[in-house]
Amino acid sequence: MWKPPERIKHPQLEARWPTAAEASSSRLFSPLRLGPVELEQRTWVPAMVPWRASDDGFVTAEILDWYTRFARGRPGALVVEATGIRDIPSGPLLRIGHDRFVPGLRDLVRTVADASGGHTRLLIQIIDFLAVRRRPRPETFFDRYLEITDRHRRSAGDATSDRQVREFLEALPDHALDEILEPRELESLRFGSRERVTDTHLEPIRELPRVLPDLFAQAARRSQRAGFDGVELHFAHAYTMASFLSARNSRSDGYGESLEGRVRLPLEVFRAVRERVGESFAVGCRYLSDDCIDGGSSVEDAIYFGVEFARAGMDFLSLSRGGKFEDAKQPKIGWAVYPYTGRSGYECMPTAISDETGPFGRNVPHVARIRSAVRRAGFSTPVIVAGGISTFDQAEGILERGEADAVAAARQSLADPDWFRKISLGRGQEIRRCIYTNYCEGLDQKHKQVTCQLWDREGLEEPGVKRSADGKRRLLAPDWPPVSSEPTS
Ligand SMILES: Cc1cc2nc3c(=O)[nH]c(=O)nc-3n(C[C@H](O)[C@H](O)[C@H](O)COP(=O)(O)O)c2cc1C
Ligand code: SF4
Repeated sequence: MWKPPERIKHPQLEARWPTAAEASSSRLFSPLRLGPVELEQRTWVPAMVPWRASDDGFVTAEILDWYTRFARGRPGALVVEATGIRDIPSGPLLRIGHDRFVPGLRDLVRTVADASGGHTRLLIQIIDFLAVRRRPRPETFFDRYLEITDRHRRSAGDATSDRQVREFLEALPDHALDEILEPRELESLRFGSRERVTDTHLEPIRELPRVLPDLFAQAARRSQRAGFDGVELHFAHAYTMASFLSARNSRSDGYGESLEGRVRLPLEVFRAVRERVGESFAVGCRYLSDDCIDGGSSVEDAIYFGVEFARAGMDFLSLSRGGKFEDAKQPKIGWAVYPYTGRSGYECMPTAISDETGPFGRNVPHVARIRSAVRRAGFSTPVIVAGGISTFDQAEGILERGEADAVAAARQSLADPDWFRKISLGRGQEIRRCIYTNYCEGLDQKHKQVTCQLWDREGLEEPGVKRSADGKRRLLAPDWPPVSSEPTS
């Protein structure tokens, strides 16, 4: 993973944990309304892909276990991982692109309701993504993928057939290809080919604005039928909708270039969803406070989008940052490019090795500006912040200063799914605290079942402990409290 050149090692933040009485009168443990839905507290577990769905996208027993574990910590909101809206194979990632996925998702809703005692509101993040191919072996690329053009033929001089052109190119040293191949061809060779929303010469890409509103609306309706409290439209990171919002979107068909053009499809998607699910179902989105790439959207753009989303009637705005393909590292041959390996990936999931600013709450200043612009425009839409938040004082301070309305913690909740509950019970000193190494994110990158290094080797021999596919790691955080005496309230 990319690290800032300064490489300053930041210790964990000092933590002071409140008594149960102080916690119960805090902002963090006060209710928050997301349109038609009320959260009991302003604690939020954002979407995290755990690599536990079946290969054809269904809810599995392991998925139920994963969300049960978070639900037992009783966060105000729990967001189910990015779930694909199309009915196409996408490996062990959850899908919602057909009615056959609804029964499994309904089980998930019931399981979370039982595990949280009805205290947690459950949202599902719905996503569209474009095709990304694995980095090919050079011989495969030249034999099969490269479309031979006159430019290639000219470079091969007296080659008499396309076969000879392919052989000529394959025999060249890598650096010589810089002069011959087009930038996109070089990218396909060195990173694996990747579709972009600007590839409007391809019909399916050109047609995205015609197709996506209905696909999102159908997916949202299925999530409503499954019993979720709401949907989070995934407009963040490296995926289709974020690419429409990005300043790099140069589509000239009215869905790119200007701020109005870039926000047009996201708004059309939202309106189609709202029309399908009505007003009694929470609909919000996750988007970026900053793309964190050269030529990408800035916080000024994000302010404009936030106000427009609020004006359109979204029930919440959840802000992440970075996580783009454009600055990702070159993958190994046979692997797909992973959008959290460059600087923008670092900004999304910052580690303890950082710059002067450090990994804790680096998204907060931008989110505070977005929230105040939304308020100035006359909207009370709740704004959720994530990124390196792991103590009570940090979370409470963010709420007290009006920088956000709810506080999301992904890795801290993975490190200790009971951490919000422990705080509310005045038992904060029992929290297992994230050390922000991104071991978990490394597993995600390898498409391995995600676990936390702080607990995944603990009690492996205990009865009933489920293990990862290689048998080396436990899949879930140990129970809390360890003995059968359940905490009250
Ligand atoms: C293993 C893993 C999987 C993630 N999957 C998603 C996802 O499906 N959708 C999403 O919007 N963010 C995803 N994220 C990003 C988190 O939601 C969060 O924004 C990020 O980790 C920063 O918050 P934190 O510092 O509290 O971890 C993932 C993060 C991790 C560590
Ligand atoms: S592996 Fe655990 S401690 Fe390390 S960053 Fe992930 S959640 Fe935090």
